[in-house]
Amino acid sequence: MKADKILYNLEEVFSPNDLGRPLKGKEMNEATILKNAYIAIADGKILKVEEGEGYKDFKDNNTEMIDLKGCVATPGLIDAHTHLVYGGSRENEFAMKLNGMEYLEILAAGGGILSTLKATKELPFDELYEKTRKLVEQFMVHGVTCVEAKSGYGIDLETEVKELEVIKKLNENLPIDLVPTFMAAHVIAEKYKKNPDEYVDIVINMMPTIKEKDLAEFCDVFCEKDVFTAEQTERILTAARENGFKLRVHSDEIENIGGVNVAADLKTTSAEHLMVVDDKEIKLLAENNVIGNLLPGTTFSLMKDTYAPARKMLDAGMAITLCTDSNPGSCPTANLQFIMQLGCLAMKLTPIEVFNAVTINAAYSVDRAKTMGSFDEGKDANITIFDGKNLDYLLYFFATNLTKEVYHKGKLVVKDRQLV
Ligand code: NIG
Ligand code: FE
Repeated sequence: MKADKILYNLEEVFSPNDLGRPLKGKEMNEATILKNAYIAIADGKILKVEEGEGYKDFKDNNTEMIDLKGCVATPGLIDAHTHLVYGGSRENEFAMKLNGMEYLEILAAGGGILSTLKATKELPFDELYEKTRKLVEQFMVHGVTCVEAKSGYGIDLETEVKELEVIKKLNENLPIDLVPTFMAAHVIAEKYKKNPDEYVDIVINMMPTIKEKDLAEFCDVFCEKDVFTAEQTERILTAARENGFKLRVHSDEIENIGGVNVAADLKTTSAEHLMVVDDKEIKLLAENNVIGNLLPGTTFSLMKDTYAPARKMLDAGMAITLCTDSNPGSCPTANLQFIMQLGCLAMKLTPIEVFNAVTINAAYSVDRAKTMGSFDEGKDANITIFDGKNLDYLLYFFATNLTKEVYHKGKLVVKDRQLV
């Protein structure tokens, strides 16, 4: 078979192992690093990835040859946890945070997620679409080819549907894959404070409509002090599973209130944050094959030192990913590369562990491993090319966009940090 495109002269190609399940523990420090390699693409799919000059066999007069001397290629980066559809922004809370006010204190005072609810409700669909488009394009420019995106800034069906429809339309219109998550269980609004279970019922009652409209694959809950209890989380996620959703749970971001037990009981696809989990809970997650979606940018932005204990998780045999958590409150960023660098600098992960976290394991976390996350023949040709000669350089030279090119299904979508 002839290739449509051949990316050649690549200094290094990071090629993760797809074992048919997420990489766990020590497996996360294994991958093939090809030197002086090429990637042949046909019909938007990976045809061949190998070292040397074998590309000549796939080349004919119509093949586009792309010389990438001095560059590294990896599978397109995947961000398995974001909240990127919202109105407004929250820089008004920045001074409060710098003065030591805690995230949950700001929320209890009626700010935080509660202020974003209002801004999101007020923004008309087209404006919300345009605002979110610009943010998603920032992800693309930073080398990302697939993003999980949660709703959760609408506490009524109408606003939740608006957010999820924005995600659906962006997925159709932009050359990036978005994986939608229904997260109406994100905050308890003022009017339900006296009877939060009433709101739990409202969330559960939204589920059939979200599914009928085919607006979300996953359901997520913010299990946290003063937000949803472990019991409420279990009720919501059990109903979500009955309604055909796959499951995630925000647990142990700030306080440990038992979200991990819910994740383990229900064997959710992932548990998010896990900043303050204990050793027993880590073991429980490992035993139940719950992926830890770790979000070091949130710890950084909340100015805490409680980074999720990633090394302990790997030692216990867990699978982990690294994600931005992009949102207007606890982690306003669109730069997954910086999050990956925190994976090394703050969590002491190795470069191979970090790249496995944001490629093959993230693909499993968003349930897309059949078509992305590694360079196995026949997967979508989603490829990120970096300006840098080796993996170590990409994680050592931090907080700078090192993306040279991005291919989505074989098509060039970003070049020299600009959309094509
Ligand atoms: O993952 N914790 C809940 N959700 C987000 C924050 C959302 C916000 O503050 O707007 C998080 O940190
Ligand atoms: Fe989050």
